[in-house]
Amino acid sequence: MAQKRVFITGGASGLGKALAEVYASAGAKVCIGDIDQAVGEQTLTSLQQLNPECLFVNCDVTQLEVIEGVRDTLSEKWSGIDVVINNAGVAGNSGNLEKISIEDWEWTLNINVLGVVRGLKVFTPLFKQQKHGHFINIASSAGLMNAPRMSNYSASKAAVISLSETARVELAPYNIGTTVVCPGFFPTNLAKTIRAENKDTRAWVERAMSRSTVSANDIAQEIYQAETTNTFLLLPHTLERRFWRLKRWLPEVFFRQMLKRTAKLFPQD
Ligand SMILES: NC(=O)c1ccc[n+]([C@@H]2O[C@H](COP(=O)([O-])OP(=O)(O)OC[C@H]3O[C@@H](n4cnc5c(N)ncnc54)[C@H](O)[C@@H]3O)[C@@H](O)[C@H]2O)c1
Repeated sequence: MAQKRVFITGGASGLGKALAEVYASAGAKVCIGDIDQAVGEQTLTSLQQLNPECLFVNCDVTQLEVIEGVRDTLSEKWSGIDVVINNAGVAGNSGNLEKISIEDWEWTLNINVLGVVRGLKVFTPLFKQQKHGHFINIASSAGLMNAPRMSNYSASKAAVISLSETARVELAPYNIGTTVVCPGFFPTNLAKTIRAENKDTRAWVERAMSRSTVSANDIAQEIYQAETTNTFLLLPHTLERRFWRLKRWLPEVFFRQMLKRTAKLFPQD
C-alpha cells in the first residue's frame, strides 16, 4: 500500500502529536503544523526517528493564506495529500455566559471553528482534483453535551460536529471521507489555554483530565482505525458514549438532570 501523506494542525502537542506518532509509526509521511515553533521542532525530532520524511511547518489556523501555502508546498513535495486532520484548538472560556467577553468569543471561534472551516475550504479542491482524501475533525463531547459554564467551548465544538455532518454528505460523492471525533477529558496541555475568572478552574480541568482512563495515544489509535474504515462519528470515552445515548433516548428525564448535577461540580464565578 502507498505511504499515506498526512497534514495535522496543532500537531506539536497532545492529541495532534499522538496522531503524528501513530501515523508515522504506520509508515506515513506526516507534516505537523503549529504556532509553537520550539515545541513543534522538538516533536519533529522525535517523529523523524519514526519516519525521516516527517516535516514541521509554522502554521496558524487563523491565517487562510498560510494554510494555502502549506497545501501548495506539501502537494508539490509529496505529489498530493491523503489525510488532513483539523486538530488545533484552544480550551476557550470557562464561566457564566454573561461574563464572557465578545473578544474571547471571537478568539475561541476563530481558532476552533474557523480553523476547521479554513482547513476544509483549502484542502477540498485538492482532494476533489485527486479524487480522494479524508478529513478528520477534532471536536469534543462538549459539543454534544453542552454542559454549563463551558458555553463558548461547547458551541465551538458543536459547530465542528455540524460542519462535519455537512462535509460527510457533501463530499462523499467525490470519494472524500469525513470523521469527527468527540473525546471527553484526557491529559494534554489544553488547560493552559483556559481563560477563566475563577482561579480554581484550570486546576479543576487538569484534575478531570488526569482522571481519564483514555490517553491521547489510545484516542489516536482509534482515530487511525476510524479513518481506515471510513467511520464518521467517534466517541472514544465509554462514559461519554453513554451520555450521548442518554441524550438521544431520554433527553428530558435523565440527560437534563445529569447536566444540572454537572452544574454543581464546576467551579462557580
Ligand atoms: N484534552 C482534552 O481533554 C480534549 C477533549 C476533547 C477535545 N479536545 C480537542 O483536541 C484538540 C487537540 O487539543 P489537545 O488536548 O491535544 O491540546 P494541546 O494544547 O496539547 O494541543 C493543541 C495544539 O494546538 C496548537 N494551536 C493552538 N492554537 C493554534 C493555532 N491558532 N494554529 C495552529 N496551532 C494552534 C497548540 O500550540 C498545541 O500544540 C483540540 O481541538 C481540543 O479542543 C481535547
